[in-house]
Amino acid sequence: MLRGRHFVEPGNFSIAETDGLFDLASKIEEDGNYLRESCRGKVLATLFFEPSTRTRLSFEAAMLRLGGNCLGFAEPGSSSASKGESLADTVRTVACYADIMVMRNPKEGAALLASRYSEVPVVNAGDGGHHHPTQTLTDLLTIKRLRGNLEGLTVGFCGDLKFGRTVHSLAKALARYPGVKLVFISPPELSVPDYIITGVLKRENIPYTETDSLEKVIAGLDVLYMTRVQRERFFNEEDYIRLKDSYILNREKMALARENLIVLHPLPRVNEISREVDADPRAVYFKQAKYGMYVRMALLASLLGVVSC
Ligand code: NCD
Repeated sequence: MLRGRHFVEPGNFSIAETDGLFDLASKIEEDGNYLRESCRGKVLATLFFEPSTRTRLSFEAAMLRLGGNCLGFAEPGSSSASKGESLADTVRTVACYADIMVMRNPKEGAALLASRYSEVPVVNAGDGGHHHPTQTLTDLLTIKRLRGNLEGLTVGFCGDLKFGRTVHSLAKALARYPGVKLVFISPPELSVPDYIITGVLKRENIPYTETDSLEKVIAGLDVLYMTRVQRERFFNEEDYIRLKDSYILNREKMALARENLIVLHPLPRVNEISREVDADPRAVYFKQAKYGMYVRMALLASLLGVVSC
């Protein structure tokens, strides 16, 4: 049962619970009326201390489609955080007004802290360069729907694997599926942090390789997960400028890949996927954004207990 639970990182839900969410999301996709009005009278608070387009709007769209209401802020300057209020106090207050809250914060661990002070479910919409578990639900659902399963896949991650929180969450989640192999493609300065390599992959004996060449490995991939270089997490602009165009997926590179490859990207895209790739049927990142709304509807309905999952 997910009712009343927090969702801070992918490991908070079992595979069976995650599968339950995917089943619900698929029912919603097939039948636009399913769960409609199920959250009437419920309030979602969105606390965004960092910019967002898809995550915040898809959560709000999800709640509105379920018949509930939304309140919140989209930048910290408009909340009392700018007056020096602690996160704990903000969260305790918001829990008085809302039935569930979704929070994005630049500090690693912020969502965990919020979950300790909140009487209503807290959903992590990104804590610094750490985790982004609802993007992971989106990514897993996209892979499952478009590839048919989550087992036995070779998944390549390309770009900023150091600061990319979507990468950390998805790698951790994929490590739970049998037969998965991971290929990490990044410049050495932007490689996957040790808490994923040692803390998850080595501990669970998950096969993985690290390389700096996309061309060399693209032919062996079932899924390619492209990411943007996370400018806001760099300590100096020169490093960002040097690394920002390390990888650009274009038609020539796609020609080396399998016919049934799928290319995901959490978005926003900056330069790392050339526009000419958008027309390739293997490019599924805008479909992915749509799956994000369905799975967030399933998540909100489940955490609020209006459906049993
Ligand atoms: C991602 C994020 O915020 O981590 N965006 C998203 O939620 N879809 C990826 C990014 O900002 O690069």
